[in-house]
Amino acid sequence: MDEKHYQILRELGFDITPKNMTNKYWVKRATEALALTTQDRDVYGCLDHTRGDGVNIYDVEGTKYLDLTGGVAVRAFGLRYAPQLEFEGRIADVIHEFPGMDFDAIPQTLLAEKLASITPGSHRKRVVFTTSGGRAVEGCMKSAIDLTNKRRFVSFRPAFHGRTGYALSLTSSNFRHKNTFPQGVDVIRVPYPYMYRKPKGMTDDDYKNHILETLEYALQVEGNDIAAVVMEPLSGEGGLIVPPSDVVQGVYKIAKDHGAFFHSDEVQAGMGRTGKWCAIEHHGVVPDYISMAKALGGGYPMGASIGPAPMYSGPSRHSETFSAEPKMALLALWILKHIEESGFLKSNAEKGAYMMKQLEELMEKHEVIGDVRGLGLMIGVEFVTDRENKRKATTLRDRIIKNAVQKQKLWILGAGQNVIRFTPSYIITTDEIDEAIRRLDRAISEEIH
Ligand SMILES: Cc1ncc(COP(=O)(O)O)c(C=O)c1O
Repeated sequence: MDEKHYQILRELGFDITPKNMTNKYWVKRATEALALTTQDRDVYGCLDHTRGDGVNIYDVEGTKYLDLTGGVAVRAFGLRYAPQLEFEGRIADVIHEFPGMDFDAIPQTLLAEKLASITPGSHRKRVVFTTSGGRAVEGCMKSAIDLTNKRRFVSFRPAFHGRTGYALSLTSSNFRHKNTFPQGVDVIRVPYPYMYRKPKGMTDDDYKNHILETLEYALQVEGNDIAAVVMEPLSGEGGLIVPPSDVVQGVYKIAKDHGAFFHSDEVQAGMGRTGKWCAIEHHGVVPDYISMAKALGGGYPMGASIGPAPMYSGPSRHSETFSAEPKMALLALWILKHIEESGFLKSNAEKGAYMMKQLEELMEKHEVIGDVRGLGLMIGVEFVTDRENKRKATTLRDRIIKNAVQKQKLWILGAGQNVIRFTPSYIITTDEIDEAIRRLDRAISEEIH
């Protein structure tokens, strides 16, 4: 942190000096000030909010890390991306907050039109803007209830759709998210298609049929009054699981047979990350609803619920004060245009394939890697105690993450119970990917010996 930023903190009333710049000091203060949520302070230090570029982030002690999380899939273009900063500078005098759902303004209308045009399907759509992924999911859920007058949903295990209200009802990726919190809406939960973990001895086809039959059976015995089937096109938090397209198509068909909507939650996988605007395009399904967030706001809170017109049965069925703030709507429009014009859809697919290949090579070296899978720049590595029985190597995975962060300076995150996920910013280079793989290799080697 340079003198300018110490000065800013002093002006705000905090006498912070270079001697305070240790991870230990700030982790202690954070522990005492912030509610415990998802921070793992045993692994991660305190980040320096004044430093960073591209995929390089720094902690308060000045240690530089190679960031493979992309701010949990938020920073499409990494830190301090010059073209984005230049655009942000040009819109600095745009009005800050017009409550976008209360009064019309030009940017959110243009952004809604743009999102309708880049998402699958030529049907008439409507868009509601939100400030988070969970709320983007809930905007769709409320619409599905409103339009069908049905209140039940189908969701999967694992699944992650957010931690608030209705979205939490759909989520099932960790008991900590759910224990003691009441179910906001009724959910019929069925297994997510997870080819790597299909029961031993079952053929791929038998397993796929089994998944679809389980869903059919659940609807027959639990009730088929379903507002929407909500599915991640590629399971993120649940363990980076890529479902087979024919099963996703089968789920879609079952939804339609029962008069339910199909909702693709693209909060993590959308926005071009997988090489297509929406990951559901890989499966050849046109969803009725799409929820987006994360990379849409370029680092600022911005989400969107996209659904079939008219979306709600009448006025005031849904709203949010902070939604489609004009500056952020302009920034989101710029991000979409820049992804398009700079060929990021193609390069995300190519770089993802490159990274998958490197990880597959790593898998040949390390027995503890049971599976490598992904789409574009959304990749998971699953750790097992041995390949034969596929027992989950949960503590080993945790140790590898800790080693990677603290010793190799590779900033990574877990997913599911035994998976490491990679959701880097789209601007990552192949050299940086090579370096990340080298560091991961070292972390694995050190932890298995
Ligand atoms: C698929 C999916 N849906 C919803 C959410 C919730 O988003 P938020 O944390 O912005 O509420 C997430 C967050 O990781 C996600 O991955």
